[in-house]
Amino acid sequence: MNNENKPTKVVVVGCGYVGLTAAACLADLGHVVVGVENNADRLASLRQGKAPFFEPDLDALVASGQTGNRLSFTEDLTAAVVDADVVLVSVPTPSLGDGAADLTIVESVVSALSKSLPSGAVVVLKSTVPIGTSTQVVGWLGRSDVEVVANPEFLQAGQAVKAFQHPDRVVVGASNKEAGHKVAALYAGLNAPVIITDQRSAELIKYASNTYLALRLSFVNTVATLCEQGGGDATTVLAGMGLDHRIGSAFLQPGPGWGGSCFPKDTRALAAVIRNAEADDTMLEAALAANQKRLRQMVKVATRAVGGSLHGKKIAVLGLTFKAGTDDLRDSPSLAIAKGLVAAGAKVTSYDPMVSVSPEGARHAGSALEAAKEAEVVMVLTEWPEFTELDLSSLAEAMAGNQIIDTRGLLNKESCQAAGLVLWQVGKG
Ligand SMILES: NC(=O)c1ccc[n+]([C@@H]2O[C@H](COP(=O)([O-])OP(=O)(O)OC[C@H]3O[C@@H](n4cnc5c(N)ncnc54)[C@H](O)[C@@H]3O)[C@@H](O)[C@H]2O)c1
Repeated sequence: MNNENKPTKVVVVGCGYVGLTAAACLADLGHVVVGVENNADRLASLRQGKAPFFEPDLDALVASGQTGNRLSFTEDLTAAVVDADVVLVSVPTPSLGDGAADLTIVESVVSALSKSLPSGAVVVLKSTVPIGTSTQVVGWLGRSDVEVVANPEFLQAGQAVKAFQHPDRVVVGASNKEAGHKVAALYAGLNAPVIITDQRSAELIKYASNTYLALRLSFVNTVATLCEQGGGDATTVLAGMGLDHRIGSAFLQPGPGWGGSCFPKDTRALAAVIRNAEADDTMLEAALAANQKRLRQMVKVATRAVGGSLHGKKIAVLGLTFKAGTDDLRDSPSLAIAKGLVAAGAKVTSYDPMVSVSPEGARHAGSALEAAKEAEVVMVLTEWPEFTELDLSSLAEAMAGNQIIDTRGLLNKESCQAAGLVLWQVGKG
């Protein structure tokens, strides 16, 4: 509710994974929300009550918000914001050539807002932006009667709605106390700790969190590579580490390398910020380099599995998304690995339960079994539940070879052996 006891009017600019999830969940919390989206196809889908991408439970919230008249969508930014209490900016902030975040879209949205916002409105940066951007936005806005608040988003693809409704924390960075409380009040219906701090600290909490997780995964995968090459079981090693309460057990699972729309981009962006501040970016660069090595290592594992050169060898790739539960392919490790296989001359066929395209140079299959047909090697690259239930006998029958590479720890060695398959397991010597 705003000061006049009316529901808060929230405008969300950019209805992608972050913006649409926020729009639908805030409408569900009782706010009146208008989503602004400039992609005509996405807008048409939204108006039909359908998210333009896959995210569990989101369609239902988008549809119910519209039926309950708490949620609507438009392409008209100016008309949407004239009576807005709060405007959430959730447009892309991609990487520039040097890794720094490209703020062009944020700047163009903010400049357009400056002409139409009512006095007293609050502009909220939900996009992931470098430290200091909120202050820059104050300049782009040029409005002393409008406050700017940093409110970074921590959603996890594949469980965006759940993460929004049950967040570990809500972070609000504001130089004006009243504006900070207005933004914190948007989340009043959630049971989560709220950190109200200054804008720079809020911006850094986001980057530092993602980059720390990326560093952790690079370390985890280094332990995995060590065990794969020298012996030992990384899963047990990491579980043993995780029982130490100072370490904790989350994010200790080895894999083929990390990716997704945030970790690589945010790690590169924080490294650029650190370089500009003339601080030491060594750790971040090392984590990025280690991840690239890990991805190349997976291609080497396939090369060994075929006993030499990949040239002309048929490889089935199961799973293209960077994790299960999403259709997001941005910076997916599977794509990098498929690219490496294709570059080495392999004939790659891919299958993903959520994605009907294939990586460049690869062929698309409609099922895991179809992908495995005549393959020398099957590589499981995403932890989709259906890959834990592969019919191993049928798989063995369909394949020309007998090698399975499981980069997600889904398959059981004895079951594979029983089907006549040789299993390479992530993190095991
Ligand atoms: N995806 C995630 O898991 C995640 C998590 C936390 C933070 N973030 C950050 O949130 C921001 C958005 O990420 P995303 O994944 O939602 O991106 P996205 O590409 O899924 O969505 C962005 C949306 O903005 C729209 N858009 C672009 N320019 C616009 C404009 N001028 N007016 C209206 N709409 C416009 C696009 O059409 C698109 O629908 C980024 O800064 C990202 O780093 C993303």
